[in-house]
Formats: sequence, structure tokens, C-alpha cells
Amino acid sequence: MKKKILITGGAGFIGSHLVRLFVNKYPDYDIINLDKLTYAGNLKNITDIENSANYKFVKGDIQDKDFLDSLFKSEKITDVIHLAAESHVDRSISGPMEFIITNIVGTANLLEVARSNWEGEDHTFYHISTDEVYGSLGEEGFFYEDTAYDPRSPYSASKASSDHLVRAYHHTYNFPIKISNCSNNYGSHQFPEKLIPLMINNIRNNKPLPVYGTGENVRDWLWVEDHARAIDVIFHKGKVGETYNIGGWNEWTNIALVKEMCRIMDEKLGRDTGTSEKLITYVTDRAGHDMRYAIDATKIKDELGWVPSLEFEEGLDKTIDWYLNNEDWINNVTSGDYQKYYDEHYSS
Ligand code: NAD
Ligand code: DAU
Repeated sequence: MKKKILITGGAGFIGSHLVRLFVNKYPDYDIINLDKLTYAGNLKNITDIENSANYKFVKGDIQDKDFLDSLFKSEKITDVIHLAAESHVDRSISGPMEFIITNIVGTANLLEVARSNWEGEDHTFYHISTDEVYGSLGEEGFFYEDTAYDPRSPYSASKASSDHLVRAYHHTYNFPIKISNCSNNYGSHQFPEKLIPLMINNIRNNKPLPVYGTGENVRDWLWVEDHARAIDVIFHKGKVGETYNIGGWNEWTNIALVKEMCRIMDEKLGRDTGTSEKLITYVTDRAGHDMRYAIDATKIKDELGWVPSLEFEEGLDKTIDWYLNNEDWINNVTSGDYQKYYDEHYSS
């Protein structure tokens, strides 16, 4: 049976990298990219593949079950890789309902529609999730695949709920699912509300660099194209019903990372050393701010042979160059709605 893979959220940050990888690497698959094009979805992220013979874009909302059902029937969808979500923790704190409806109800809609349309065994419903479902670590230890869930923000609680639903479909209906939980991604085309692109944009424009709380919170950073490679490996070789953790073995405190970005950008922009660091501004901490995330990615490494391909220093350098060389992209996405969000969020 020819694979007709529905990738949801394929106009977003990670989704656009995944769609590009699949369209280019698998000419025998049909790739259908379903995206609502919220503020975070942008077709300019994938102009290079938009005319490929094995690619189709469909604008639509995973909150609409009837629409999903007719799409499954008309396109004869065989597999799903589900990334569509509201993804920004700060937005989930100021407005949780959109996260609950898209991330939980939207995932339930997709599960139901896939379950009612699929017959036989040759299908995969692959749900893309986050390490935030595991909660917050102290100074020691890692998140493993069997770490108990302890989500602490509306975003992570909505992702945890959707993970539970996906697993429940496997246990109850023997539905062919896979799940992966990944650490913080960075790279090109990330909406500049997230730490790395926000800081790059503000350094370039000599704007304050808002570091939450003490800046000692720790995140484990992974290059987005390595995440897309991991999804490819799990989709093709991962075991049905299993969960895989994906991470970069690359922990940074926020403040150390922001200072490193300042150092690199001073060099690239021809500024005196230390100039950009003066922009660092400690601001009120995020409510319920998780202290540390760190993934143990031994399972995917040992069972499927995946390891990150890029050193962080090289990836960060490439990422900064991409933002500096793509001012039009930044200006396009930072106008309108984003500017309003930024003004409201960082006003106090
Ligand atoms: P993103 O916000 O950049 O993109 C999300 C995409 O989903 C956008 O294109 C948006 O238009 C689309 N979308 C939102 N609501 C929709 C709806 N109701 N119907 C259809 N499309 C809708 O997010 P991202 O950072 O690329 O994350 C993608 C997925 O990966 C999410 O599920 C997220 O939880 C997960 N994840 C992200 C990270 C990370 O560091 N960014 C890490 C681990 C897991
Ligand atoms: O761990 C995976 C998760 O990583 C994904 O599931 C989420 O979709 C993704 O948004 C990301 O969540 P974080 O909350 O970790 O990412 P964010 O870029 O928002 O923040 C990273 C850290 O930087 C966090 O400790 C908060 C801090 N921060 C963030 C912003 C936007 C600041 O200090 N200042 C800022 O302006």
C-alpha cells in the first residue's frame, strides 16, 4: 500500500523541518501537510518544497472532527505524524483554553478519525511530545521513558493528557501508536517568542534581553534537524506501542546561554566584547517555572542507533547566521499579532 502520511503542524517550526526531510527523502510517499496556520504556522517556512510532486498542503483545524474525517476519506491517509499544537508555555499561562482544546481535544479527534478509518495493521499514529510532561528536575538525574508524569504548566498538562490518550488507544483498542518526548529544539524558522530566536532578535535590535528569575534554570538543547532525523528513525524502525526520549545531552543554564549568544553576536556584528551583555535584564520569573529538564536518550541510541549529529557550538553559530541572513522572515513574523503579544507580555 502506498504511504499517504498526514503530518499535522507542518508549517510550524519542527513540522516544517520534518516535512522537508520526508518530501525530499521519500519520493514514494505522499506527504499531506495539515496546518491551521496560527500565528506560529508560516508557509514561508517551506517554499522550497511546495511544488514537489509528492507534497500537498491543506489548511485546516484539528479541532474540527468532521473536516478530519473527510480528509482521511478523500486522501486515504495511511499514517499520521502529529505535531500540531499550541507550543509556547508563557501563552499557556496567560490563556490555557486554546491549549486544552487544540492539544487534548484536537489529538482525541485525530485518534478517533484514524481509528474509524483504518483497517488492518499497516498504519502508524505517531504522536510528537515533549519532555515537559515529566515535570522538573533538581540538580541531578535525568528523565527516562518510565519517569512518572508530573506536568506543571497548562501547556505540559495538555501534552501529558494527549500522551495518555494516545497510550490509552493502544492499550484499549490495540491501536498502532508511537510516542516520542523531546527536549528543547533550536534552529532556523523558530518563532521568536522562544528563548533562542527571541534573544538573537533582541541582541540584533539592541533591545533588552529578558531573563526570567535568576537565569539559573536549565534546558537541554537539540538541533531541530536532529529531532526531525530522530522522528524519521522512530517512524520507520521504532516499536509499536513504545515511547522514545530524544535529547541533546546538552544542558545549559539560561543565563550562560544568553551570555554565549551575546559573545558570538558581538563578534558577528563587529561590536566591542561585552556590549550585548549589557542588554541583559532580569525580569519577573515565569509562574511555576520548571527548574531543570534533562533527557536520557540511551534507548533511542541503543535500540535505533540515533545520536545527535551536530555539536551545539556549530548549531548555535548556524542558527544565529540564519536569523541574521533572514531579516525578511523575522520582520514578517514579528509584525502584527506577535508585536502585540510582545508588548503585552514584556510590558511590566
Ligand atoms: P510551533 O508552535 O512552531 O508549530 C505548531 C504548528 O501547529 C503551527 O504551524 C500551527 O499553525 C499548527 N497548529 C496549531 N494549532 C492547530 C490546530 N488546531 N490545527 C492545525 N494546526 C494547528 O510548534 P513546534 O515548536 O514546531 O512544536 C511542534 C510539536 O512538537 C508540538 O506538538 C510540541 O509540543 C512538540 N515539541 C516541541 C519542542 C520544541 O522545543 N519546540 C520540543 C518537544 C516537543
Ligand atoms: O522542553 C521542550 C519544550 O521546550 C517544548 O515542549 C516547548 O514547546 C518549547 O516552547 C520549550 O519550552 P520552554 O519553556 O523550555 O522554552 P522557552 O524557549 O519558552 O524557554 C526556555 C527557557 O528560557 C525557560 O527556562 C524560560 C526562559 N526564558 C524564556 C523566554 C521566552 C527566559 O528567561 N526569557 C524569555 O524571554
